Amino acid sequence: MTTVITYGTFDLFHIGHLNVLERLRAMGDRLIVAVSTDEFNSGKGKSSCFSFEERVRIVSALRCVDLVIPESNWEQKVHDVKAHEVDIFGMGDDWAGKFDFLKPHCRVVYLPRTPAVSSTSIKLDIFEAHSEKQAQVQREQGVRSLA
Ligand code: CTP
Repeated sequence: MTTVITYGTFDLFHIGHLNVLERLRAMGDRLIVAVSTDEFNSGKGKSSCFSFEERVRIVSALRCVDLVIPESNWEQKVHDVKAHEVDIFGMGDDWAGKFDFLKPHCRVVYLPRTPAVSSTSIKLDIFEAHSEKQAQVQREQGVRSLA
């Protein structure tokens, strides 16, 4: 039995998230996903659109995910790897090298990120589309008030 573990926020669940989770699950027999809690994220100055409970429900519903646990601090990884008898720790390659300290305990892999999508870029796209719409409404109101 090969156990794989990964960590992340998984806000606004998107195709890059699905790709990395499916690839990691294919490397073993069991995939554990540690989902970042809202408190952990706020300590990093990060906030998500969906709450921890919502993100856990979405990730738990995936066929490629066998177990979801909370990620509440930076230090828990060695403990998690030992407690769940993890063989492979995997993340997208935006984290390349960052978790090599786990190498004495398990295999550490960094998979290529899916290009051109992230929770941050989705938020920015929506914000820009909304700003553009508001600017258009203001231009139209301006034209009407001049008429
Ligand atoms: N990931 C990926 N490809 C993407 C986006 C994310 O492989 N295009 C991976 C990350 O490398 C990580 C996992 O998905 O292993 C969870 O990442 P997360 O930070 O939750 O997703 P992002 O979309 O990168 O979120 P943010 O923009 O808030 O950093």
